[in-house]
Amino acid sequence: MRVDVLGAGIVGLTVAEELGRRGYDVAVVDRDPASGASYAAAGMLSPGAEVWHGEEEILRLGLASLALWPALAERLGVALRRTGTLLVGYDGGDLQQVERQVALLGRHGHEARLLGRAGVRATEPALARVAGGALLPDEASVDPRAVCAALLDRVALREVPRPDAAVTVVATGAGLPAPWTGLVSGVRGEVLRLRSDDPPRRTVRGWVGGEAVYLVPRGDGRVVLGATSEAHSAPPVLTGGGALRLLASARALWPALDRAELVEGTARDRPATADGLPLIGPSGVAGVVLAAGHYRHGVLLAPLTARLVADHLETGHVDPAVDPRRTTEGAR
Ligand code: GLY
Repeated sequence: MRVDVLGAGIVGLTVAEELGRRGYDVAVVDRDPASGASYAAAGMLSPGAEVWHGEEEILRLGLASLALWPALAERLGVALRRTGTLLVGYDGGDLQQVERQVALLGRHGHEARLLGRAGVRATEPALARVAGGALLPDEASVDPRAVCAALLDRVALREVPRPDAAVTVVATGAGLPAPWTGLVSGVRGEVLRLRSDDPPRRTVRGWVGGEAVYLVPRGDGRVVLGATSEAHSAPPVLTGGGALRLLASARALWPALDRAELVEGTARDRPATADGLPLIGPSGVAGVVLAAGHYRHGVLLAPLTARLVADHLETGHVDPAVDPRRTTEGAR
């Protein structure tokens, strides 16, 4: 069966790779591949650190997808850093945020170990004195740019759709075509890339005076610092205020930031849905399947999305939590 995947971000490319492995004749359609949210993404594979109250389904989906990442990374020949995520609270109020996160995870059977000030210091000597934290040892990270480059080596890329495709998978991130345009809106994320001789060893997800910030090291001195989060309708740009807030929060946690080389700043829109869950499955239009609206979780959920789309084409199965019909029926 001939399938076109619209959108060569990490979701579309991973869907195409999975469909190709299952014997479909697949092409990915994109004039500017891997240049959207995947280009900005830090690559946290952090279902526990990134879940929040009211979005608990993300934990189930994220854990299922995290389990698929080792095989995908091995197939692609890209590094999967399985160093865990350290949650940290800079002051007492920020530590309450960490404790709330740990309690939320505990309620869903996902235990995280709370660490005092000394425990954080021993776990991550590069950090400043913080009030405390917690370790999520099973979490990981990848370099999304390396993942997309490896996927682009393995899939057929086209600039225009094939007229004879039997199925079209729409994976165009924050810019969905009609009639689905209104189902996803852009939430700007600004991200900085640095190079340091003293990087953290693992992903650090912190709160500093109530501001959320994360540092994702690649293991070779490169560190991704993110991310702002702002709903807006203008094209995403890196702002002075956004960069300033990120640098100020990160510096409070990681003093070596002062000596780090600031390499790049990037802003892209995250594709947000009304309920924070992606749209994976039938679109309401015959022959069109959605793989969209992954919001903060596109990198994490890419392999699960690929499996769900391929299973849907083969069996018709849809995971109810991500079934687009929960929104399309009302929206169209
Ligand atoms: N998943 C990280 C972010 O969206 O900033």
